[in-house]
Amino acid sequence: MSTSLSQCLGIAYPIISGGMVWASGWRLAVAVSEAGGLGLLGSGSMTPQVLAHHLEQALGSTSAPVGINVPLMHEHAAENIQVALDHGIKVFFTSAGSPRQHTERLKARGAFVAHVVPSVKLALKVEAAGCDAVVAEGTEAGGHNGFEEITSLVLWPAVASAVRIPVIAAGGIADGRGMAAAMALGASAVQVGTRFALTKESSAHENFKAAALLAEDTAVKLYLRRFMPTRAIVNDYLGRVMAAEASGATTAQLLELLGRGRAKRGIFEGDVVEGELEIGQVAGHIDDIPTAAQVVERMMCGYRETVARLPV
Ligand SMILES: Cc1cc2nc3c(=O)[nH]c(=O)nc-3n(C[C@H](O)[C@H](O)[C@H](O)COP(=O)(O)O)c2cc1C
Repeated sequence: MSTSLSQCLGIAYPIISGGMVWASGWRLAVAVSEAGGLGLLGSGSMTPQVLAHHLEQALGSTSAPVGINVPLMHEHAAENIQVALDHGIKVFFTSAGSPRQHTERLKARGAFVAHVVPSVKLALKVEAAGCDAVVAEGTEAGGHNGFEEITSLVLWPAVASAVRIPVIAAGGIADGRGMAAAMALGASAVQVGTRFALTKESSAHENFKAAALLAEDTAVKLYLRRFMPTRAIVNDYLGRVMAAEASGATTAQLLELLGRGRAKRGIFEGDVVEGELEIGQVAGHIDDIPTAAQVVERMMCGYRETVARLPV
């Protein structure tokens, strides 16, 4: 299956595994790219040294294209971009910051640049900054979210109508039906997080994966809505923070409750009680841990079946 975007990226299927802190290391990125999609390394939880290691492992394991996600608020963002450029990486997905920050420099090095947004207003800024594509991420998505809380069903077609660059749909896609919906609403590719976080190659802890399989869709909540909206599974930690939010805690009080390293503790170290378990709403409908290649294969089969049985 070929779209102009998949041709431009040199991939067989327009399926991208989103960069995910503590979950998308080189094993997952390589598995997705080897299966015909595009695997992104999540540099948001990596120091430049750790990223260099992941890049070397990835580049030594596949000749398929591999990209990198760079959350621009991350303390090592600029250094990590340089490390990736030094390793010959040509595909950058930036997020959580201004698309103007690094796009010109990356384009001058011949790179493909996409930037993640939660609204039409920001999508227009991405286009104006000279990015090659925009990732439109609905509020269903796992991890950090926009303040706007716009759902995928509303966001994707609105962004597709507003910009001329290709739109990559994200937020709530876990199977071929979701992919078909995204493509019908104007997307040229899909970026999938939660479904790939719950695969064998994901570096997330087994406890995290087990908790996500058990979670119902109602157990996945958006919290910190006023200063850093994040979607995660409700546990003791989240319950305390949400109660504090509801009783009007100040940002300073919330920051004190959060402390540091909650995402690492939850996703990577497997503390499902006191860690932050970032995941998307769609986790409520996921009940197995397949390989990443199985996810790609099932998604493509499901996509074709869905499109074939649509009434005309
Ligand atoms: C555990 C987890 C960590 C994430 N970390 C990041 C990140 O570091 N940078 C980023 O741009 N997006 C991050 N995301 C968002 C994904 O890249 C992707 O856009 C999103 O998960 C898509 O929605 P879905 O979860 O419904 O598939 C994360 C998502 C999850 C589930």
